[in-house]
Amino acid sequence: MSLVTTAEMLKKADANGYAVGAFNVENMEMVMAVIKACEEMHSPAILQTTPSTVKYAGLDMYYANVKAAAERASVPIALHLDHGNSFELAMQALRVGYTSIMIDGSHDSFEENIAVSKRVSDACRPNGIPVEAELGKVGGKEDDLECDDPGYTDPDDAVKFVRETGITSLAVAIGTAHGIYKGEPKLDLNRLSEIRQVVDIPLVLHGASGVPDETVKECIKRGISKVNFATELRIAYSNGIKEYLKENPDAFDPKKYDAVGMEKVTELVKNKIKVCGSENKA
Ligand code: 13P
Repeated sequence: MSLVTTAEMLKKADANGYAVGAFNVENMEMVMAVIKACEEMHSPAILQTTPSTVKYAGLDMYYANVKAAAERASVPIALHLDHGNSFELAMQALRVGYTSIMIDGSHDSFEENIAVSKRVSDACRPNGIPVEAELGKVGGKEDDLECDDPGYTDPDDAVKFVRETGITSLAVAIGTAHGIYKGEPKLDLNRLSEIRQVVDIPLVLHGASGVPDETVKECIKRGISKVNFATELRIAYSNGIKEYLKENPDAFDPKKYDAVGMEKVTELVKNKIKVCGSENKA
C-alpha cells in the first residue's frame, strides 16, 4: 500500500478502544523488521524518526526506505516525524513526504508552545497532514534532549492548547519518561481520564518502553490511541547483533548479524501490537 496518514488510523483506534503502536526506526533493518511484524499481525503501524535519527541519514533517505517497504506491505503504514524540534524541520518533513508530523514545543513556555504548534498545524492542514504536539513535559532523555524537570499535563490547559493550535493529536505527560526507568513508573491515570473527558482528539503516550504491559493497556482503556516505543526496539536490535557476534566473533557479513537483530525487533513489535490491541485491525 502507499503510505497513509495517521488521521484515519488514529480516529479508528480512538473509536474502537485500541491504540496504534508508533515505533522508532534507525535504519533499513529496523524498518523491515517492524513492517514484518505488522504484516504477520495484520496491524496498522506508525514508523517514526526523531531529529537525531534524521541527522544520521536524512529525511529523504528514511522517506524512500519506509515508502518502499510500505508499498510492499498489505497493511497501512504511516511515516511520522517524532519530536520535531523546529518549524523548519517540520516543513522539511512535510515537503519530503512524511505523512504525519509532531512539533514538540513542550520545552518552551505555554504561549510559545501554542505559537509554534499552531504555525505547524496551519501549514500542514491544507496538505491533509496530521499534527501532534505535546503539552507538559515527558521526563527522561529523548534524542539529544535531557528533561530532568518533567511536568504533568493540566487538563484545562490542554483544552485551551488544542483549541488554539488546531492540532490533530495531543501527547500527554502523565508520568512516563523516555529511556530506561529506574524502578516501576508511577503514572497519574486519573489525570489521563480527566484529559480524555475534556479533549476530543486522539491522545498519545510517549515513553512506553519499560512501562508494564498492563499499565499500557490501562492507559489505552482510558483514552490513549497512539503509543510510542523507541528504547526497547534499539535494545532488542543491538542485543540480537551482540549475541550473534559473541557466538561468531569472526563474522563480517552484516546480513548475518543484522538478521538476528531484525528477528528480535520483529518479536518485540509483535508483542507490543498485542498490548496495543491493534492485531487484525489493518
Ligand atoms: P521510549 O524510548 O521510552 O520507548 O520512548 C519513545 C518515545 O516516546 C518516542 O517519542
